[in-house]
Formats: sequence, C-alpha cells, structure tokens
Amino acid sequence: MSHISVLLHETVDALLADRNTGIYIDATFGRGGHTRLLLSKLDEHARVYGFDKDPQALETAAQLEQEDSRFKIIHASFGDLKQELEERGIGLVDGVMADLGVSSPQLDQAERGFSFMKDGPLDMRMDNSKGPTAAEWLMHIEEEALANVIFQYGEERYSRRIAKAIKAAGYIDTTAKLAEIVKVAHPKWEKHKHAATRTFQAIRIAINKELEDIEVFLPQALEVLKTDGRLAVISFHSLEDRLIKQFIQKEANLAEDTSWGMPQEREDTRRLKKISRVRASDEEVKANPRSRSAWLRVAERLALKGK
Ligand SMILES: C[S@@+](CC[C@H](N)C(=O)[O-])C[C@H]1O[C@@H](n2cnc3c(N)ncnc32)[C@H](O)[C@@H]1O
Repeated sequence: MSHISVLLHETVDALLADRNTGIYIDATFGRGGHTRLLLSKLDEHARVYGFDKDPQALETAAQLEQEDSRFKIIHASFGDLKQELEERGIGLVDGVMADLGVSSPQLDQAERGFSFMKDGPLDMRMDNSKGPTAAEWLMHIEEEALANVIFQYGEERYSRRIAKAIKAAGYIDTTAKLAEIVKVAHPKWEKHKHAATRTFQAIRIAINKELEDIEVFLPQALEVLKTDGRLAVISFHSLEDRLIKQFIQKEANLAEDTSWGMPQEREDTRRLKKISRVRASDEEVKANPRSRSAWLRVAERLALKGK
C-alpha cells in the first residue's frame, strides 16, 4: 500500500508562509508526499533536502532526485540534522518539517516486522541496515527494564505481566508469536484495540529511539532556521506531541522570573513564536483514519532581541 500523506496542504502551506523560494528540510521523507507538494510550490532556485533512515524510502527519493534537481536525499537520522547539513555546507534554512512515526509501507510489509496484524520476522527497525532487531533486543533486555518500556512508551497498565510472559517465552522470532504471547498475558482487552497494540508501539519506539531522536532534533531544527523560518511537526501520539508542545512553549515564553521580587532588567531570550496547532479535518479522517490522532504544531523563528 502506498502512503497517504497526513495534513499535507496544511503542513506545506504553514511551512512556506507565502514564500515560493528558499531552502527547506523534510526530516521524514517517507514516500515524499510532503516534499513533492513543497517542490511544486517552489521556484527553480529553491532547494529541498529530505532525510530518512529507511533504505526503502531512499529508493523513492533516488527517483525524485532524477526527476527534480532541486531535491537531495540524505540517508541519516534527523537526530543528526545539524551535523549532516554542516557536512554538506548547507547554511541556515527557511523551513524544517517532520511527519513523525512509521509510514504505511513500513506497517504493511510483513517482512518489516512492525505489525501484529501481519505475520513476519520480529524486526521493527526503521533503518533495517543496522542495529538489533526487536527479536534480538527482547533477548537482551532485563524483565524490569522491558516492563518500564512497555509502561512508559505503550502507556500499558499490565506492563509487568506482559514483560514477564515475554521473557519467559525465550527467543521470539515472529510478530504473530509476540502478539499471541501478549494477548494471553493481557487480562483486559480494550474495545477496538488489539491487546498487543500498546506493547508493539512501546517496543517500536524503544528500538528506534524515537523519542530520543525527537528530543535532540528540535533544538537543532531551531538552530538551523533563519529568522522568520518555520518549524512544522506532525505527531501521532501524546508522548511525541508532549515533547513538541513543551519545546515550543519553552522557546516561545519568557523565561521564569527568578529575581524574587527584585525589579530587574530581563533579557528577552524567546526564540520561537507559536503559529498554530492543527488537527485533520473530518473529511480527511474519513478518507484516512490514520490522520485521526495527528497533531500539527507550527512555530516561527524569532530574531534574538538586540542581535
Ligand atoms: C510518517 S512517514 C513520512 C511520510 C511522508 N511525509 C510522506 O508524505 O510520504 C515517517 C518517515 O520518517 C522516517 N523516520 C522516522 N524517524 C526518523 C528519524 N529519526 N530520522 C530519519 N527518518 C525517520 C521513517 O522511516 C518514515 O519513512
């Protein structure tokens, strides 16, 4: 199945803010839906750099490089954004966007091992060219640490029972086996949700270091933005959205007054201005249920006062 881009026009329009030229970063190229729309709105001098760590996304990106010389793909994590741009001599940019999480092709291909709905090898790596698979990772993690991952990243109440059952099972080589172990261990299934949904999400987030990457990405995105440049990020669950919201809030609000009532000249260190927070429309949710949980947050780079 191909990937239906979420909040496509909303994100690209917010990123451009009426510009039609400049340098832009799509930190999660995927199948290039956002990048293609972005390119269609830019003039011949503009440049778009895509990042993705999935080798399959790179195949689509390589085709686009052939079709459009304004586009270049970078096979790296967006957690290394600043260094990757510096290595290529790319200076400040006009916009940075990210559409977090997994793509539909990643979920739909049984052999990528992301889905409990499709039996395949228990892999779950976005970059399947390196690092341990989920099966290997589960073998090495201690039961208590696993329970903590399932609790924190899956927000799963029965994390301890599930971790115990997983560790008791020995080497689990397929998604179907893991799904069954979780199902049996789970005492209370939620309506409309497979018992393994939360556990699969937690393991995926952990092995791909998804939250760590977002945490290091956001300050770098801010540093590479020109004044008035835009940051636009789409997230799909509350753990991601919280990181983005807190980051924008911290950078958009005046620092706390620590002068204990003594009137003091305070330096204005705000670096971002909040622009918008957008959800998918009813029509989009109907056409693409994956967009139901999406949040787009947009902020703009401010010039530092006095600089
Ligand atoms: C939701 S998809 C993006 C879809 C894309 N916007 C489109 O319209 O086709 C997310 C993509 O980001 C990639 N990705 C996730 N985390 C990443 C990271 N830390 N660095 C680079 N790419 C990442 C995934 O491999 C996946 O291809």
